[in-house]
This record gives sequence, structure tokens and C-alpha cells, in this order.
Amino acid sequence: MVRHFLTLMDLSPVELNGLIQRAIELKREYLAGRAYEPMRNKTLAMIFDKSSTRTRVSFETGFTQFGGNSIFLSPADSQLGRGEPIEDTARVLSGMVDIVVIRTGPHEMVDTFATYSSIPVINGLTDSFHPCQLLADIQTYSERRGTIRGRKVAWIGDGNNMCHSWINAARQFEFNLHIAAPIGYEPDPGLLAQNGSHVELGDDPLSAAKDAHIVVTDTWVNMGQEQERISRIAAFEGFCVNRAVMQQAATDAVFMHCLPAYRGFEVEADVIDGPQSVVWEQAANRLHAQKALIEFLMGVPRTEFEQTD
Ligand code: CP
Ligand code: NVA
Repeated sequence: MVRHFLTLMDLSPVELNGLIQRAIELKREYLAGRAYEPMRNKTLAMIFDKSSTRTRVSFETGFTQFGGNSIFLSPADSQLGRGEPIEDTARVLSGMVDIVVIRTGPHEMVDTFATYSSIPVINGLTDSFHPCQLLADIQTYSERRGTIRGRKVAWIGDGNNMCHSWINAARQFEFNLHIAAPIGYEPDPGLLAQNGSHVELGDDPLSAAKDAHIVVTDTWVNMGQEQERISRIAAFEGFCVNRAVMQQAATDAVFMHCLPAYRGFEVEADVIDGPQSVVWEQAANRLHAQKALIEFLMGVPRTEFEQTD
């Protein structure tokens, strides 16, 4: 049966942990300059109707490193932009390419696409979830500090797609997530209710950050919310991750941000550009974590690499 990755709940905790370990191995192989090309003669289609730097570049580059080819489709230059149904596009692409990444607004769009697709579908961000980013984030923490299991993570800011994926991650990787969000900008209540044993919600950044091992934030103005910019900036006053917030956290805490970041708004420059920040590793790990994901979804039998370095 075809597997998709629309949220972190599509894989079991065992599969997710295996994927993180595999990402670390694939990174080691890549950095050692050893070629590994399990996607020769395969094609990845990327349907993006929102902007992207990291997601697009990491998927295209990763698939190239795997020996395959990728095709980028935006609504402006495909028939999707002229109203061809998603159901039809899914069936057409299933007959031509091998795997699809979609970045769009409504999460229902990726659900519908996956229902009609006979090839794996990856969520490259929707308004509701951004699961690929979490793979890179968990890989980054694992490489830096070891297992995230039992750790405390503080989410400071909007209850957005990234926050939702951190909630799913808290359940799947068994850590405690403390969210500080302004009233009116909390994450989805249904998702919170399902994950109450791993997640606490409040509106005080300092108490959320207390003794945290990771402090994480994201933009206050998500893609598609540009019209709300002024009201959002006002609502998030006091939610900037600054030195005072980081001082509440554990001494070996790391600061995370999926990027793009807006210095002076959700994070101060001395935090994101400071010694506790791991944001560049998070971004670089998108490449490796997604290669592990592609290998998994494509059912590639795992080559055991010899550790020669
Ligand atoms: N973090 C992330 O998904 O970045 P892009 O929007 O640049 O892809
Ligand atoms: N929450 C942000 C993430 C960007 C990668 C957005 O949806 O715009």
C-alpha cells in the first residue's frame, strides 16, 4: 500500500525514529562525498502554490543527489492554475512521475490529492502543518544533544502550522511541549485536546521557557496573512524571543526557528545570531531528513553503509 507523509501522524514513532537515524547516516555519507543514487530514472514532481526557498531547494537537490530528476510546477504554469481538478491532476501525475511534494494553503488539498494518488505524496507545508520541517528539527536536536524524549520544548508565538507540527512531534517523539501564545492566536483546540498529555498551553513566554531544552518560534505573519500584518504585530507584543526569555531556559538550551526569520519581531538578532542558535543546521538538515523520507516512502531497501570515517 502506498504511504504518504501529510502529517507526522502518518508514520509510527518507530518509523519516525528510524528515519531520523537514517537521515544522520545519509548526511554522513553525503559529507564524506560518497554517491548513493537509489532514485535513478525516477522523477519527483513539486506542486508549489506558495513561496519557498528551503523546501524547494532541499527537495530538488536531495532528489538530484539521489540520481533522480525533479519537475517544479506552479499554478501559473500548470493547468491547476486554470481550474483542473486536484483529483484529475493526482491521477495524471500518478501515471508519469514517482513521488510528489505539495505546498499549498488548505490542508484538504493534500488530503484530496493523496486520496486519488497511487504514488507517495509529501506535505511540503499547508496552512495547518509543516511536518518535513520537524524531521530536520528533531534530527538537529538529536545530533546536538541526543534524544529529545522526555525533554521540554517551549513554543513562543503563533499557534500556526509549525506549532501544530510541534504538537504532533511531542506525541510521536514523547517530549513535553509548553506553548505560550497570545489569546486569540492559540493552536487548534481539537489538536490540543488530543495531545493534552504532552502539551501545555499558556500565554506567558517566560514561564513556557523555564528550564526548556529547546526554545522555538516562527513568524507572526504566515504566508497568506499579509493583510493582517499590522494587527498581528500588535497582538504579539511581548512574545519576542529575546535574551530574557533564553535566560529562563536550561543552560544548554538551543534556539530553533524554521526560517525565514524576522529579526526584531519574533526573535531578537542576538538570539538568532547568538551561540545557542542552531537555525543554520536546521535548514541544512532539511536536505538529509527529506532524503531519508523519500527513501522510506519509495520503499527502497536500506543499503547498509560502512562507517569508514
Ligand atoms: N522553513 C521553510 O519551509 O522554508 P521555505 O519557506 O523557504 O521553504
Ligand atoms: N509558518 C510559516 C512557515 C514558513 C516556512 C508560514 O506558514 O508562512
